[in-house]
Amino acid sequence: MISDKQFQNRLLTWFDQHGRKHLPWQQNKTAYRVWISEIMLQQTQVNTVIPYYQRFMQRFPDLSSLAQAEPDEVLHLWAGLGYYSRARNLHRAAQLIMQNHQGEFPASLAILQKLPGIGQSTAGAILALAFNQPAAILDGNVKRVLARFHGITDFINEKSVENRLWELAAHYTPKKCVADYTQAMMDLGATLCIRGKPACERCPLSEDCLARQQNIAALLPRKKAARELAVRTATFVVFKMQASILLHKRPDKGIWGGLWSLPEFAGEPEKKRIQIFCREQLQVKINDYQILETFRHSFTHYHLDIFPILIPLKKKPPVAIEDSAQIWYNLQQPKAIGLPKPIQSIVRNLS
Ligand code: ADE
Repeated sequence: MISDKQFQNRLLTWFDQHGRKHLPWQQNKTAYRVWISEIMLQQTQVNTVIPYYQRFMQRFPDLSSLAQAEPDEVLHLWAGLGYYSRARNLHRAAQLIMQNHQGEFPASLAILQKLPGIGQSTAGAILALAFNQPAAILDGNVKRVLARFHGITDFINEKSVENRLWELAAHYTPKKCVADYTQAMMDLGATLCIRGKPACERCPLSEDCLARQQNIAALLPRKKAARELAVRTATFVVFKMQASILLHKRPDKGIWGGLWSLPEFAGEPEKKRIQIFCREQLQVKINDYQILETFRHSFTHYHLDIFPILIPLKKKPPVAIEDSAQIWYNLQQPKAIGLPKPIQSIVRNLS
């Protein structure tokens, strides 16, 4: 087994030649910019994140601009990235840093971890990448590299194995050049030590990699199988009045929290059910509706089969009054509000 010094040196040499150095969050590096990128990258690929990151930075170039924003505008810029609690936490954390830390980004693992949306690995990444301080990270990429290098065949989603991986991550994290080392681990995991078919022949660690020596690199890391996801169905109703459609604001907690969505009911669009829904929601009687194209949207815990329907209205029903939880959204002059991706796609297909 090689020493931690050798491990670090091999990685750093590899990083000099092959690492990523031109990502937007690596330019004009500040803790704020690193933080936003780490949150966006938590569940999302680099290529998807880049345009969102650039738009976000243009509108909110620093902590104070983000802290002062309306929640709707933050969600609008997040719309499509998914996992919207990330955006709400980001906004809340920016306000907390302004209030409690005089707008100075805290360079402390313990303080960072107390902020909403920042766990141990994200706190470590901010310290390492932005402040060059020796803090370990353990995201999916790093787990894969370490599990392979140490030939760990146990399920990595078990607590004891995760603890062992944290110990290894801390063991290899250098005191110097932490930012480059951390980016190197992420890059190795994202470009060579990938899931499925790793490119071991190009890996700077392969000679000493236990998984490679046993020819099991492609099989690691192992995870205890997740249960198959449940399938739910919902009918999403587009009430359309001239160029406007009715949108409802979702409660802050839960799926699409704080975003604007279409009125919906559970189950498929069956005529009797639609008529009852229209009476309950708007006190209107309808005979005419159109079934739009069905599609599946997958969440972490279930699939949702979405049946959108279009109901044209001749005049605004008296109960559909605009307030903080209900708006008529003009498709020709759309306001900047947060719409979940499936709703965006239904709306796009209307016009
Ligand atoms: N994933 C998480 N953080 C990252 C970073 N700094 N660069 C590339 N991919 C990442």
